[in-house]
Amino acid sequence: MNLETNRTNYQRDELNESSIGDDPIVVLRAWLDIAAAQAVPEPNAMCLSTVGADGQPSSRIVLLRGLDDRGLRFFTSYGSRKGRDIAHNKHVAVTFYWNALERQVRVEGVASLLTEAESDAYFASRPRGHQLGAWASEQSESIEERAMLQERKQHFNERFEGEEVPRPHSWGGYCIEPDRIEFWQGRPDRLHDRLVFSRDADAWHRERLQP
Ligand SMILES: Cc1cc2nc3c(=O)[nH]c(=O)nc-3n(C[C@H](O)[C@H](O)[C@H](O)COP(=O)(O)O)c2cc1C
Repeated sequence: MNLETNRTNYQRDELNESSIGDDPIVVLRAWLDIAAAQAVPEPNAMCLSTVGADGQPSSRIVLLRGLDDRGLRFFTSYGSRKGRDIAHNKHVAVTFYWNALERQVRVEGVASLLTEAESDAYFASRPRGHQLGAWASEQSESIEERAMLQERKQHFNERFEGEEVPRPHSWGGYCIEPDRIEFWQGRPDRLHDRLVFSRDADAWHRERLQP
């Protein structure tokens, strides 16, 4: 592809103060529902950015598994790079991008561990193969060859044969309590709409940013 000439003139929709309302969680939920209704693949995929103890930011995709007034929930391995980063620095950022809708959402906030009961409940809802995968993989650690992962999965399959697979203590969820949420809608001639909500004590304050 030609990186210099490839461009889109966004013109699908617009973002108005009058219609967006006062609650960014309600808006994010509506945008997710619209993305799903329009058959966007994995609309709940989001880019999660963390910062390590050495100040190095890093980003990766995770799946949003819950959204309410407390915040955004996702699940992972606590010993992974992201888990280690969050243990050191609880400030994280999340980005959604739905190309078909010409929309982006940026969230900034503070991550905290879900309760053991919440992580247990979600883990129990996962397919058995995924549960065994969580036991088999020490996420973000190096491994010599893929075959070792399959062997480990088989080992845990036998260990938990005939019983429910329990949640490994090293695996569970986080809730990101947002303090800033920005909604972006692509507009013609790069004059995009940007409405940002910032948490001010217990209320959300809204302003428009230049594109
Ligand atoms: C579409 C998609 C969804 C993913 N969902 C998750 C997820 O929910 N949890 C997770 O731990 N990793 C998920 N991953 C893998 C992560 O992007 C990443 O490779 C992994 O978590 C290790 O990241 P880390 O070493 O920075 O901790 C997903 C990847 C993709 C492409």
